Amino acid sequence: MVSYKELGLVNTVEMFKKAVAGGYAIPAFNFNNMEQMQAIIQACAETKSPVILQVSSGARKYANQTILRYMAEGAVQYAKELGWEHPQICLHLDHGDTFELCKSCVDMGFSSVMIDASSLPFEENIKLTKQVVEYAHKYDVTVEAELGVLAGVEDEVSAEESHYTKPEEVIEFATRSGCDSLAISIGTSHGAYKFKPEQCKVDPATGRLVPPPLAFDVLHEIEKKLPGFPIVLHGSSSVPQDEVDTINKYGGALKAAVGIPEEQLREAAKSAVCKINIDSDSRLAMTAAIRKVFAEKPAEFDPRKYLGPARDSMKKLYMHKIINVLGSAGKAE
Ligand code: G3H
Ligand code: 13P
Ligand code: ZN
Repeated sequence: MVSYKELGLVNTVEMFKKAVAGGYAIPAFNFNNMEQMQAIIQACAETKSPVILQVSSGARKYANQTILRYMAEGAVQYAKELGWEHPQICLHLDHGDTFELCKSCVDMGFSSVMIDASSLPFEENIKLTKQVVEYAHKYDVTVEAELGVLAGVEDEVSAEESHYTKPEEVIEFATRSGCDSLAISIGTSHGAYKFKPEQCKVDPATGRLVPPPLAFDVLHEIEKKLPGFPIVLHGSSSVPQDEVDTINKYGGALKAAVGIPEEQLREAAKSAVCKINIDSDSRLAMTAAIRKVFAEKPAEFDPRKYLGPARDSMKKLYMHKIINVLGSAGKAE
């Protein structure tokens, strides 16, 4: 048993309390490899932003949970080396689907876990979430739960269509499960194809697809039911069109990739939404940078020569999110 406290990590209690009161959101960035982790920490150290490093099921399969945990421990030391005296870094399991998985993360030093039982019936979701909460809270590990279903693929949980969170269920769910934060469904979804073209309008000036707005009415009803309770938004990548264009320019084939407009995320960050999950945008930034090097320097074969620019590009993206979208810069001085 390793406590996250020994590793210099923090849970989400203080982070979320301050974020809700201050009208900003904590970035929750997924990481699968060293370059992503370095870019996240460089961006957060430079802006003094609290951060949640997320490990998904896919990341565990790809990189190994133990390695990622040691990388998070390394991230704390790296942050200090970069001059961030008091780094506020949380290591979080993204979309945990069983009690055993959540327990294994708690036992090996994660400071926060998500139990995603959103595909189960209401009572079963409460039961499983409560079981995780009872275990995690013994070690001061915070627990995110989910109510409502996002459209698209939720790791291995697939849902044909989005089922918005029902505001009338949130009080009972939060009270009986004891979760520390709640992921809700208000129209976001995972990946780079969040909306079908037929759901969008076309901007006559740019010819770009304009997605339907998020259900802010549902969010505000939830806020009224659970004043001050930390709300989480998954699927919050904006799918920057310049990155999509770069990928396509250099041989990619991303068609009709659409994300959540940043002004809507800015608005959400001012509400009880205090954790915003971003993964796809980092994948796009990385892919665009690598494709550019491959196209412009076909003789290059040193991975550092393409992973380096990819890391720089991701850092730029993370800084932009922190400063211009989530408003978390300077909140972890
Ligand atoms: O929730 C979805 C995240 O983007 C993680 O995706 O399972 O492919 O790592 P992944
Ligand atoms: P995106 O695919 O929009 O980046 O969402 C990531 C996410 O919600 C991770 O849990
Ligand atoms: Zn998610």
